[in-house]
This record gives sequence, C-alpha cells and structure tokens, in this order.
Amino acid sequence: MEFTDLLEKRHSIRKYDASKKVTKDQIDTVIKAAIQAPSWKNSQTARYYAIMSQDKIDEFCSKCLPERNAKNANGAALIVCTFVSDVSGFSADKVADNECGNGWGFYDMGLHNANLILKATELGLGTLVMGIRDGDSIRNMLSIPDTETIGPVIAIGYPDAEPSRPIRKNIDDILTTI
Ligand SMILES: Cc1cc2nc3c(=O)[nH]c(=O)nc-3n(C[C@H](O)[C@H](O)[C@H](O)COP(=O)(O)O)c2cc1C
Repeated sequence: MEFTDLLEKRHSIRKYDASKKVTKDQIDTVIKAAIQAPSWKNSQTARYYAIMSQDKIDEFCSKCLPERNAKNANGAALIVCTFVSDVSGFSADKVADNECGNGWGFYDMGLHNANLILKATELGLGTLVMGIRDGDSIRNMLSIPDTETIGPVIAIGYPDAEPSRPIRKNIDDILTTI
C-alpha cells in the first residue's frame, strides 16, 4: 500500500470482529516494523507484551482497563507497551542528558508504536492506542519489572466497522516557518 494511502486508511478502531483472531505471525510482523524505528543512540528501549489467549485478555480487561476501553477492545488481542527507564536520554552512568529525562523513552516508544500501527493497517488489521489504563494493575498482572515504564495498551484485531476520521488541524495551525 502507498504510504499516503496507509496514513489515510489508519483510524482508531473501536469495534472488532471477534470471530477472526490475530495470529502470532501477525504480531511478530508488527513488532518487527516497530523495531525499524529510530531511537536515542539506537538504544531500542521499547518492550512489548502481547496478550493473545482469550482467558488472559478477559482477565486483563477486567483488571487493567476502564469499562469503556475494555468494551471497545472486545474481540482484539492486546499489546502492552513499555520502555526500559533511564536509558534513552541518559548517559551510561544514568545521568539525564537534558531536561526531557525519560520523555525520550516515551518519544522512542511512540516512534516504535507509529510503525506498529501503520504496519497493522497494511496487514488489514485495526488498532486502538489506549492511554487510559491502570498501570499498577498491569505491572502486577504481567509481572513487569520496575526497571520498565508502562505506556499504552494497543488493541489489535480485525475491524468490524469503518469509522470516519476525526478532523485534523491545518498545516498553518501547527507549523511555524522561520
Ligand atoms: C497516546 C494516546 C492515548 C489514547 N488513549 C485512548 C484511550 O484510552 N481510549 C480511546 O478510545 N482512544 C484513545 N486514543 C485514540 C485517540 O482518541 C485517537 O487517536 C484520536 O481521536 C484520533 O483518531 P484516529 O486515531 O482515528 O485518527 C489514544 C491515542 C493516543 C495516541
């Protein structure tokens, strides 16, 4: 698919076809795309936890997602996104290189995730990035080490609706040319 078409085709999907399941091969493919992203000194600190079995998805939804996100993600697999803290944006002795600190870890993870969701779109899959989630419950349930910062949960599955795209700003709204 042409890159511009891909950008236009991707929407947040909040209705999934539960009869069609995402495969481990598809998960591997989107994670491989994520890995191609640039990162601070190539530190590649993003980490992913893919929840694919239905009993674990159900447990995760009840413990870690608010009702609305759990309902919207119904029928999809879930990918929890984290990054190794205090590496991206930091020197080897763990001193922050500048005022952004672990903001760079979030930045790198976001670049990874952009690749991930666009690759999913190319595969005919839909995604929903969910920042509203319970980080402490996620850490407990998945035994995520304290060395990792938990970011969003991404639902990934077969779309069961073609939503319209929310309005975007114009170039002049976000670009200052000097
Ligand atoms: C960091 C981040 C967190 C988000 N959290 C949620 C969420 O918790 N629940 C939800 O329904 N959508 C969530 N979204 C999806 C946005 O609402 C959506 O991307 C935006 O409205 C633009 O729509 P589009 O993705 O269809 O272009 C999130 C998106 C991002 C990037």
